[in-house]
Amino acid sequence: MQSTTLVILAHPNMEKSIANKYISQLLEKENMVIRDLNQLYPDYKIDVKTEQEFLLNADTIIFQYPLFWYNVPSILKEWMDSVFTYGFAFGKGNYQLEGKKIIVSFTTGSSSKDYPEDVVEKIVFPFKGLAEYCKMKFVSAVYSHEMANYSDEAKEKSRTNAEIHAKKLIDLLK
Ligand SMILES: Cc1cc2nc3c(=O)[nH]c(=O)nc-3n(C[C@H](O)[C@H](O)[C@H](O)COP(=O)(O)O)c2cc1C
Repeated sequence: MQSTTLVILAHPNMEKSIANKYISQLLEKENMVIRDLNQLYPDYKIDVKTEQEFLLNADTIIFQYPLFWYNVPSILKEWMDSVFTYGFAFGKGNYQLEGKKIIVSFTTGSSSKDYPEDVVEKIVFPFKGLAEYCKMKFVSAVYSHEMANYSDEAKEKSRTNAEIHAKKLIDLLK
């Protein structure tokens, strides 16, 4: 059976996005299922049952987002709080996502010197905690830096970095 990869995409300003837009387009070409949260839920009213169904049908879940103040964009936090519920993701002996794989994939505006290993570890920690709590498997974090759109040159660099980023994700799933 073919495995299914679900991409949970969070970006509140997709019209201006270069990196996350391009990465998600490249992943969609690989037949991954993309859930663009801001487009689906501009009012933040998450359809919990639907999102849980998408999770149940996936083998791997990629969280794709731009780093906002060392954290996830607010829609992604809302989605996690709403969807990983007691009796579904954990508790009452129910670990319905048990064994599914998690990959964290984020882009930053700053350069790599601002992201030594210990800083990345802090950024990724909530996902590792969630994976452990829900008996899921944390696979890896993929991250790219210097993603900006303030000039044509910066946009071009973003696109190049985004392409390398998408390739890393695709290779991870092979
Ligand atoms: C509200 C906000 C907070 C941000 N916080 C950070 C941050 O903590 N660290 C960082 O390197 N970049 C930060 N950035 C820059 C974004 O991560 C960067 O613009 C994004 O990754 C580029 O991806 P995109 O082309 O898909 O928009 C922030 C941007 C915004 C709008």
